[in-house]
Amino acid sequence: MDFTGKHVIVTGASSGIGEATARTLAARGAAVTLIARRAERLVALAAELGGKTRWFAADVGDGEAQCGALEQAVAEGGAVDGLFLNAGTGGSFAPVESYGEAAFEQVLNVNLMAPYRAIAQLLPAMKARGRGAILVTGSLASERGMANNAAYVASKHGVLGLARAVALEAAPHGVRCNCIVPGFIETEMFAALPSDALAQIAARVPQGRTGSAQELAEAATFLLSDAASHVTGQSLAVDGGVLGTLSV
Ligand SMILES: NC(=O)c1ccc[n+]([C@@H]2O[C@H](COP(=O)([O-])OP(=O)(O)OC[C@H]3O[C@@H](n4cnc5c(N)ncnc54)[C@H](OP(=O)(O)O)[C@@H]3O)[C@@H](O)[C@H]2O)c1
Repeated sequence: MDFTGKHVIVTGASSGIGEATARTLAARGAAVTLIARRAERLVALAAELGGKTRWFAADVGDGEAQCGALEQAVAEGGAVDGLFLNAGTGGSFAPVESYGEAAFEQVLNVNLMAPYRAIAQLLPAMKARGRGAILVTGSLASERGMANNAAYVASKHGVLGLARAVALEAAPHGVRCNCIVPGFIETEMFAALPSDALAQIAARVPQGRTGSAQELAEAATFLLSDAASHVTGQSLAVDGGVLGTLSV
């Protein structure tokens, strides 16, 4: 998994899974472009990762802002070898009938429309080069329902479907597209869940524990690398066994 000479864009790079993956990619030689909203986090990470790292502060839910950041990333960092569309929001918890249309749309906009827009923008150049790897971040909610979080579940089902559809369109052109499915991973998003739920969740994972951002980063780096050259249209769960088991 040598990324020397490769340019990889990571959205949601200011914390958690995106940050860990950016570190892992940079350690393996990639020139990494970091995108998220919190500029101060990106500045610090870029300084730590060194000269080949670029950063752009943008809200990926703002189509123009994301488009501009991606344009600049290509202008400064060159053709894109890897595109990790990982930025995501958990949305709020409410029954579907009171969730609210604006709140529902906001979650879909960040979790589904932003990856769609980024792929529509960058896939043509990847196809023309005949190479490239796209990875989107799904969730257990890409594969299962969850009460009181309908927007997140719909968006994460959607992004898995997007990855599968793009994989088919891109495969004849040498471009791969996959979905990584985090289980319960210790990041800021996970810590935002109600505290009494966290210990209960960990106990119900077959491995008996939650996962780390680094455990996600290793699998994401594999899927973005040439080591995964025959892997496309797949969802890979990094979840300690949750999706593989029957729980009643
Ligand atoms: N942790 C888990 O257990 C878990 C489980 C399933 C799926 N996931 C998925 O994993 C991905 C990463 O989440 P995480 O767990 O690493 O949580 P995290 O530490 O909270 O990271 C979320 C990242 O997304 C960025 N982001 C959120 N909204 C954004 C926006 N509108 N524009 C640009 N960037 C935005 C955040 O940066 P800024 O705030 O700086 O913008 C941050 O870098 C998400 O797609 C999430 O749905 C996580």
